[in-house]
Order: sequence, then structure tokens, then C-alpha cells
Amino acid sequence: MFCTPMIDLATEFGVPSYAFFTTNLAFLALMFHLQTQRDEQNMDTSKLNDSDSELHFPGFVNPIPAKVLPTVIVHKDCTPVIIDIARRFRETKGILVNSFMEIESHPLEFLSQSQVGNIPPIFPVGPILNLKGDGHDESSSGEFDVIMQWLDNQPPSSVVFLCFGSMGSFSEDQVQEIAYALEQSGHRFLWSLRKPQPKGAMSPPTDYSNFEEVLPEGFLERTAEVGKMIGWAPQVSVLAHPAIGGFVSHCGWNSTLESIWFGVPIAAWPLYAEQQFNAFQMVRELGLAVEIKMDYKSDSRLEIKEPPIVTAEEIKRGIVGLMEPQSDVRKKMKVISEKSRKASAKGGGSSYSSLRDFISLVLGNMP
Ligand SMILES: *[C@@H]1O[C@H](CO)[C@@H](O)[C@H](O)[C@H]1NC(C)=O
Ligand SMILES: *[C@@H]1O[C@H](CO)[C@@H](O)[C@H](O)[C@H]1NC(C)=O
Repeated sequence: MFCTPMIDLATEFGVPSYAFFTTNLAFLALMFHLQTQRDEQNMDTSKLNDSDSELHFPGFVNPIPAKVLPTVIVHKDCTPVIIDIARRFRETKGILVNSFMEIESHPLEFLSQSQVGNIPPIFPVGPILNLKGDGHDESSSGEFDVIMQWLDNQPPSSVVFLCFGSMGSFSEDQVQEIAYALEQSGHRFLWSLRKPQPKGAMSPPTDYSNFEEVLPEGFLERTAEVGKMIGWAPQVSVLAHPAIGGFVSHCGWNSTLESIWFGVPIAAWPLYAEQQFNAFQMVRELGLAVEIKMDYKSDSRLEIKEPPIVTAEEIKRGIVGLMEPQSDVRKKMKVISEKSRKASAKGGGSSYSSLRDFISLVLGNMP
């Protein structure tokens, strides 16, 4: 989705271009909306960078607090990049999106109306997930078996799973607060904890050689019966396991779709990119997640200052809400999970039909 200069190459060869947008319809709609606002009303979104204001966005029912707008939209160095990508997307003949109609009807409606100008046809074809093969490569298969066996020994829906994506990690002080929250919540847990790189480094976190380095003293002994610490996590297989009752997630769109697919409710703790925006959509717009801290932002690459610590009390409140057996969030998640599976089902599913429409369009546009 960032490779818009390829459009020029296609044009040079006289072939049409299509885009594959790997995050959600709402974010695509937001990009088009902001581009229109910029081009027609000269709006400067970097003015929203740390304000208490809200953005009225026709793709959502609720106004968006400026605090959950992605850094790439409010950061003055990045705004032109995002606006330019939206402008170039309009030159494509169609856009595939990794989402499905039933979960994002509002943004889809917005994208289908002419009020935002010449937007190409949009094809929600998701959820596209990689459901096979995580953890089955040779290097990690030993670890995989240990994690699955541990889960097999836990009661159904009893375990909270914490995992923050390929780039997610926390400072030592923050790790301690998470540990206290887990202990006080009394819930069983599977925690993927990774070590941050030195400040400013672009590379992903690494595994700790010894978790005692960062955890509160005695934590491992006190929680030995109910918790398991891991580094790398076979996320899909974990989410698919019946022992999992909730997912504390950074709300990256892949992770969000995986949790939806397996009907696991989310506690939102976004870190960077468009994750705060995804969290807002999941918590406020859709009621599919509880909030831990929706406006948390941590992005060493854009030199944002260290975010304030989220306290054990706040985290515990989120976890307790997440694990509540009869919550609305849990019920809604079950319903939308079934819809996600129907959407991609062969034959009548909405995403299946949408992909078929896309193929017809491509064939019709053949040079
Ligand atoms: C936010 O806006 C202020 C005022 O325009 C500016 O000084 C600051 O550099 C901006 N910060 C970011 C991260 O864009
Ligand atoms: C999202 O999932 C796809 C496979 O389904 C994978 O190719 C891609 O790298 C993932 N993206 C991130 C940011 O993990």
C-alpha cells in the first residue's frame, strides 16, 4: 500500500494498476477524507498533533479524538506522505481491502458515495489471514509444543493472552506495572514479553535471556501455577485455542482480524502506526474491545517522547473487563466472528463475491 510509485511504472507499460490496502476500510476512508479536506479547504492536520479537539469524520458515527489519530497523520513530516498516497490511490482502477463489509458498513458507505470525489471501486475481500504454518518451522517447533501443551492444561476461556506484535515492547517500569496488574487480576495468563532495542533503533525487539531481569522480584514463583512467560508467540494457534478467553493487543489490523476470526474479545493497548485509530474503532464504534489505553503512543522511530506509564490499576481494570464471561463485548465478538467466516465462505460470502467482482473488473480492463 505504500508502493504508489509503481503506478507510474504500470502507466509506462500501458497496464492498469490496482492497490491492495492491508489495513481497514475506515483508515482508507480517513485518508481520502483528509486528502479532500486538504485539497479543497486547505486543512492542515498537523495542527491536531497534540490538541484536545475532535475530528468529525463521516465514516464514523462518533467524532474522533485528535489523540487517537495516527502519528503519520498529525506529524508534520508525515502528513504530506499520507495525503499523497491517497491522491495516487485515485489513479488506480480498483482497491482491494483486507476487511469485510459486515464489520465496516459505515466506512464502506462513505467510500461508495460520490461526496469524496472520484474514488475507484473498493473491494473488501477479507479477512485474509495466514492460518497455517505459524510455529511449525523447525527452529521454533519445540517451543510451539510447550506452549500448546500448557494451554491444553488450562480450563476453557480462562487465559488472558498478551502479545504486542512484531515491533511491540515496553520499558522496564511499564513491564512491572503489567506484571502487578496480572497478578492482582487473578487471571491465568500467557504473556509474550520482548526486550526493546536501544532508543532510535529500527530493528524489532529480541527475546530476554532471563525474564527475571525485568519482572518484579518473586513474580515468576508466585504465578508459576497460573501463568506462562514466552518470547516469540505462535499467535494464530494461541488465539485458536479454546483456553484463551481474551487478548490484550496492540490492535494491529492483522492481529485484530485474527482475534475476530477466532471470536476472542480484545483489550486495546495500541502502540504505533494506525493502531490507536483501530483501537478507537474497535472500542467506540464497534463495541468489540475494552480499553486499556486507546491514546497510548510509543514510536521511537518518530522520536515521540516516552509515553506516560499506564498504571497497574488501569491495566487490571482492562483485564478484568476483558475476562468477564457474559460481557456485551464477548457476545458481540462471537456474532461478528461468525460473520467474518461467512464473508469469506465460497459461494455466497460477501468478500468472496467481492473478489469475483474484482476479477471481472480486471478481465474487463485487460489492455
Ligand atoms: C505539533 O505542532 C506544534 C505547533 O505547530 C509543532 O511545534 C510541533 O513540532 C508539532 N509536533 C509534531 C510531532 O508534529
Ligand atoms: C499480516 O499478515 C500477512 C499474512 O497474512 C503477512 O504477510 C504480513 O506480513 C502481516 N503484516 C504484519 C505487519 O505483520
